[in-house]
Amino acid sequence: MIKLKNKVAVVTGGGSGIGAGICKQFRREGAKVAVCDISKENADKTIDINLKGTFNACQATVRRMKKQGGGVILNMSSQSGKKGNAQYAAYCTSKFAITGLTQSLAAEFAGNNIRINALCPGVVLTPLWDVMIGDYAAKQNMKIEDVKPYLEGEIPLNRLCSIEDIAKTAVFYASDDATYRS
Ligand SMILES: NC(=O)c1ccc[n+]([C@@H]2O[C@H](COP(=O)([O-])OP(=O)(O)OC[C@H]3O[C@@H](n4cnc5c(N)ncnc54)[C@H](O)[C@@H]3O)[C@@H](O)[C@H]2O)c1
Repeated sequence: MIKLKNKVAVVTGGGSGIGAGICKQFRREGAKVAVCDISKENADKTIDINLKGTFNACQATVRRMKKQGGGVILNMSSQSGKKGNAQYAAYCTSKFAITGLTQSLAAEFAGNNIRINALCPGVVLTPLWDVMIGDYAAKQNMKIEDVKPYLEGEIPLNRLCSIEDIAKTAVFYASDDATYRS
């Protein structure tokens, strides 16, 4: 069954990695998808519509959703938004902040039929990691080729999270299956 028929989604950072995977899965489920990415080059790869630049999700979107009678916002946090990591204080701080923002806004706008959640994925090997893996290896004092097996070993199922894992979870939260209504 198609889960996002007649839905319109704006995917910030939809030009690469997890965002691009979410765009693909949302389209597969029948949604119309607008990408909002600071990289025109990235956005052009996944595009239906490029809204260009950054996107102030928590003000403009909520205003619009209140007017239309509801909506869904999915913020992208991380496992680093739940547990601190040595040498990544700035990243963890930003991700913990997303959790606080999400929980506060979810409570504030539940009465407007706006569901707000945050996804907290573990490591996913996206273009972000192409850039980050050298830094991570240096900070952990390990060889680059040892990083992936090390990270996999931290997961009970012994594999890293995939873009599809996250995209399917995002579909669930955006769909009417997650309305929390009987
Ligand atoms: N990859 C991981 O291991 C992982 C794990 C947990 C959470 N996350 C989070 O998921 C999100 C996406 O990560 P990714 O790995 O897919 O990264 P990525 O680098 O592959 O893609 C990020 C995209 O966002 C765009 N972008 C950056 N800043 C922007 C802005 N201000 N406005 C609009 N677009 C912007 C970039 O141009 C790029 O196309 C990030 O918030 C990241 O912290 C990633």
